[in-house]
Amino acid sequence: MGKWIVGNWKMNGSLELSDNFVPALVEGMSPKASEPGNKVALCPPAPYLLKLADSCENTPLQVGAQNIHPKASGAFTGEISPAILKDLGITLCIIGHSERRQMFGDTNSFVAEKLASLLAEGITPILCVGETLEEREANRQEAVVGEQVKAALEGVTPEQGKQLSLAYEPVWAIGTGRTATPEQANSMHQAIRGMLQTKFGEEIASGIPLLYGGSVNPENAEQLMGQTEINGVLVGGASLKPEQFRSIINQGLS
Ligand code: PGA
Repeated sequence: MGKWIVGNWKMNGSLELSDNFVPALVEGMSPKASEPGNKVALCPPAPYLLKLADSCENTPLQVGAQNIHPKASGAFTGEISPAILKDLGITLCIIGHSERRQMFGDTNSFVAEKLASLLAEGITPILCVGETLEEREANRQEAVVGEQVKAALEGVTPEQGKQLSLAYEPVWAIGTGRTATPEQANSMHQAIRGMLQTKFGEEIASGIPLLYGGSVNPENAEQLMGQTEINGVLVGGASLKPEQFRSIINQGLS
């Protein structure tokens, strides 16, 4: 399997950054970014999607969204549907991020609805899962993540499983500067891979990219991505600086 390096801008960015980021990023970026199986993507706030998509044209970069509403259309003020993303040509979308789970009431069952609606439109979900510090200190991390994975994938068929990707993001590592050790991350990835094997069978499970997220930076990226079960990274803060994000990309694709 190749490597996925995905940037999540969260509620950051500007028109200026959307104009300048890609030219600065691709200068010196590994040509392996365009090899089949590798994916390099940026997920900006929705209003910048098209502008960034324009500037990614003729580069190996892709653009993704950070969230959607599961319904196709209707009276859902302020929301964006997978059908709208598809109309814009967007093929990737983060769902279940812990910030959405914690601040915007995204429950396991709402995340499952979102996942199903993305798959129905042929958009690749990056399903985020992860435990809080309290849950890890109580040694409940695998149970919590297991519940999140199971709930989100409840109605997903093995055929649809081929479209999936997941990101393990321990909540205590997001934006804190405190990264999971490569061993902690790899061990959770092994557990998630096992859950996917039970659900979809070995062959499909082994093809599902499992990303790690939480304070990934140019200093720790290579070691994290060197772990057997870590197929890439989901990067927050460091994806807003082209030189840092490029360094992470180049380490992942080396
Ligand atoms: P961070 O965010 O890299 O700033 O910790 C990661 C994420 O939330 O996806």
